[in-house]
Amino acid sequence: MKKTTNLVWGGRFKKESSDLLKKINNSINFDYQLVFEDIQLNKSYAKSLRKSKIISDKEFKKICNALSEILLEVQNKNFKFSNDHEDIHMNVEMALKKKIGRLAGKIHTGKSRNDQVATDLKLWIKSKLKEIILKLKIIQKTIIRSSEKNVDVIMPGFTHSQNAQPISYSHYLMSFFEMFERDKKRAKQLLENINECPLGSGALAGTNFCEISREFLAKDLGFIKPTENSLDSVSDRDFAIEFLSMLSILSMHFSRLSEDFIIWSSSAYELIKFPDKLCTGSSIMPQKKNPDAAELVRSKCGRIYSSLLNLLIIQKGLPTGYSKDLQEDKEPVFDAYETINLLLDIVNEMLASIKINKKKMYDLANKGYTTATDIADWIVKNTKITFREAHHITGKIVLLAEKKNKLLSELSLMELKSIEPKINEDIFNYLSIESSISKKKSYGGTEFNQIKKAIKRAKKKI
Ligand code: ARG
Repeated sequence: MKKTTNLVWGGRFKKESSDLLKKINNSINFDYQLVFEDIQLNKSYAKSLRKSKIISDKEFKKICNALSEILLEVQNKNFKFSNDHEDIHMNVEMALKKKIGRLAGKIHTGKSRNDQVATDLKLWIKSKLKEIILKLKIIQKTIIRSSEKNVDVIMPGFTHSQNAQPISYSHYLMSFFEMFERDKKRAKQLLENINECPLGSGALAGTNFCEISREFLAKDLGFIKPTENSLDSVSDRDFAIEFLSMLSILSMHFSRLSEDFIIWSSSAYELIKFPDKLCTGSSIMPQKKNPDAAELVRSKCGRIYSSLLNLLIIQKGLPTGYSKDLQEDKEPVFDAYETINLLLDIVNEMLASIKINKKKMYDLANKGYTTATDIADWIVKNTKITFREAHHITGKIVLLAEKKNKLLSELSLMELKSIEPKINEDIFNYLSIESSISKKKSYGGTEFNQIKKAIKRAKKKI
């Protein structure tokens, strides 16, 4: 009988794997990214094997030293990930075997790659979530810095992409502070959700080596407690789906921010300018300066969504238990993280370096009768006219201003009275964009002091 070369599971096989199987089955070319988590896990596992006297102190030391050597090799980029061993778990185990021989064969006692890979991936996602939270805080600080400088910069707020009501540019910026605050909250929440350790669940049913303490393993790896059900533990990838949905929402926020900036930077608006370092030129039109960084941030959101969909689709029809389909969880997770990590840096740079054109912002805020709602509100506050009627009257005032080619604030009292005789000169306190803003004193409104208070509150959150 010909012996197969697979030292881990080859015992019951008579023939070699085909090259094609290796091609579809081997995951080392992407799951090598779990190497640090896999070594960490093996160290904890070795500790628990020693505690439960499955290995001696001497054996533990040998295993641990060898794992430390492997770690060093990886850190120094001297570790050779080999396609002869299908995944990261086998690569680490085989490297251990090279160093300490037969003894390496004890490290897998009572453990399965099924609980191992779920644990590795959870550890990996946990560490990435912490990095994402830190980078979000950096972006929030950039937003606060810019908001503090621009409280009195007036721009139009838009609905339906039409000028709607005047707001402060800081108010706009701080709206993104809030979005990123929610993203941070989601990341923190996920860190909580992810806090149960699957290790010690075995292949699916639990382990015969009950002396291995799952509580110890969980604590040693930085989890709060072990997972409750071994079958669920090896099937569950909810945490990866939650990670990708959290990233999807975050990237959607990045995409919307980019979209605003792209439009505002266009010749039609010229409200902001991207710095040269975030733009590229055209190979044919010498005058062009294109906002490529922002455009790519906008589009990479789609890539992150597709990772989420990918994983949702992989899992929708899976029978309970581990199936190899679950190996396909890693590439979308890694790719989405790599993408978001780049976006986090670029968005921060974008926010820190765009130049705003205050005059254009101000002039645009004056266009489109953006204080019309303030007129309607004045009528309601100062007469017995209902809001619906006032809305109608104001519509007529807007038509008149349009006909006379005037701003609302340029209409005379006579002209205003010709539409609604109850209007008096007090209304002029309501017609300018400055006065409109100064009256939005509701909590979270765009009045300058409200914004300053909001910035103060925000500072406490980061
Ligand atoms: N490379 C595999 C994965 O990522 C590890 C688990 C393999 N388990 C198995 N029974 N074949 O999912």
